[in-house]
Amino acid sequence: MAKIVRDPLVADYVVERDVQTEADCAEVRRLYEEGYLVLLRGVKFDLDYPFLNSLDFDVEGPADIMQRVKKYGGHKILALSPKSTGPLDRFVFQTIFASDTGKLSYFQEQVRSGNAQSDALYVRLFPNYVSTRAMYTWRFTETMYEDLHWDVFGIEEPFHQVRIFTNLAASPRLWRISHRSDEFAESIYREAGLERFAGTKGDDLLRAMNRSVLHSKTPCMDRQPKHHLAFAQGDVWVCETRIVAHQIYHGERAFAAMYFSEAATMDRPELALEARLSRVHEKFADAAETRVPLEVSG
Ligand SMILES: [Fe+2]
Repeated sequence: MAKIVRDPLVADYVVERDVQTEADCAEVRRLYEEGYLVLLRGVKFDLDYPFLNSLDFDVEGPADIMQRVKKYGGHKILALSPKSTGPLDRFVFQTIFASDTGKLSYFQEQVRSGNAQSDALYVRLFPNYVSTRAMYTWRFTETMYEDLHWDVFGIEEPFHQVRIFTNLAASPRLWRISHRSDEFAESIYREAGLERFAGTKGDDLLRAMNRSVLHSKTPCMDRQPKHHLAFAQGDVWVCETRIVAHQIYHGERAFAAMYFSEAATMDRPELALEARLSRVHEKFADAAETRVPLEVSG
């Protein structure tokens, strides 16, 4: 299981929970909606970990191709065929799978199985959610020293995000997580002029906080207190990455599924990201109104 070091300067919103009974699942759902990172005790996807760790995506290649290998997601892997003709597909098949058709099809079997196991977990944890689509990421390139950030997806439609992560690598996947976006927005609201984002999409406010507050020219110099997490191989956790500030400190192989869910189908729709941020704006708008000096006659 994960090793967790908590910083008392950040709200303690990291918990471990079982998912055996319906009551367990309801509790995970409650915590998830409230903005907790929940590590799922006793959950491990049934996958061929030694095989997955034998694949090496960190190969040498032209810079433009390597950039795209990083984003070579689940749907591309499933569509890959020895007959694919695109330069990126050819590169992946020849260099990463050594033109071995059996190896590629076994990997595709693993990907299909992982996707299906994740779907089943999503339905078990969030049985009443209506999901409009799902995206699967099989990230096999090394990630290190990300900047601390809240995810900004740049997707037009508002949605409630359910994200399920697992570490496939033998080495621990190191995360650092800091303040939740609505709480942080509240703490810097006036000085950062966040009122200019009232009535706009949550993305805009998150992007501004990422750029102006968390990022510097040197990675990791955000100066925010953080909890430290080392996820062991096979650990599965859920976390809304637009609420929880996070950075991958180091990781080698991971699988993550993202379910676009309708906020109206949450147990408590008022906890969806957009609703949280609207509440922050309202709070400061109310405060501004009460600050207007009374007119004194005479
Ligand atoms: Fe992220």
